[in-house]
Amino acid sequence: MSDKKRQVKRIFDSIAFRYDFLNHFLSFGIDHYWRKKALKLSGINSDSILLDVACGTGDVAIRANKMGATKIYGADFSHNMLKLFNKKSNWIVGRNVQMVAESIPFKDKSVTNITVAFGVRNFYNIQQGFDSFFRVLKKNGKATVIEFRMPENRFFKALYKFYFKKILPKVGGLISGDKEAYTYLPESVEEFDEKVDLVKLLKNSGFINIKKHSMTFGIVQVIIAEK
Ligand SMILES: C[S@@+](CC[C@H](N)C(=O)[O-])C[C@H]1O[C@@H](n2cnc3c(N)ncnc32)[C@H](O)[C@@H]1O
Repeated sequence: MSDKKRQVKRIFDSIAFRYDFLNHFLSFGIDHYWRKKALKLSGINSDSILLDVACGTGDVAIRANKMGATKIYGADFSHNMLKLFNKKSNWIVGRNVQMVAESIPFKDKSVTNITVAFGVRNFYNIQQGFDSFFRVLKKNGKATVIEFRMPENRFFKALYKFYFKKILPKVGGLISGDKEAYTYLPESVEEFDEKVDLVKLLKNSGFINIKKHSMTFGIVQVIIAEK
């Protein structure tokens, strides 16, 4: 197992039981809106066959179900995150599968939509992940990526950095009992934003009609790409 894979898996297995609370608390509840808006932009409806990659405790899948989708699969490599997902979503048609995003054990062209919320930043090989999204999607299917980014406005960026680097690690570390996890989060966002071009990686995998949307002063991006 690569170092990154081992580190990320350890972090999510460790914070799983505090993840939902901290997510909503540290984002002041706006995370619900980000997932809902992204699913609306992706056109999720009752005809969708959705694979939610890096599903964690299932908030994207549960929201998609509220929007009419019933054929939903959740995929994540953290056993503890999936355990909570299963508890929250007994009623979801489909299955939650323990697997890595870089090698999805689904048939070619088997789903209409793939979502990944706050997950690609943690992939140990994003290109490989997008290649497997492309393979599993049907023609005209959509991949939706929701991810944090650094805001562009200088004042807001300074404020955001203060919150992300000084407040979030302290509160997150204290409540989850895992300081490394909430130090990793801000560090990974800044590094990711500087180094990774998601649109380019999606294009490399064969995606077209790639559209980028920005939310909440540019701290969250939603990218929708078509096969
Ligand atoms: C920040 S959480 C996001 C969970 C959920 N999508 C949400 O919106 O709350 C990131 C999730 O990605 C999973 N993950 C990270 N890298 C992965 C990989 N390479 N393959 C599968 N799951 C992965 C972690 O286990 C974790 O549950």
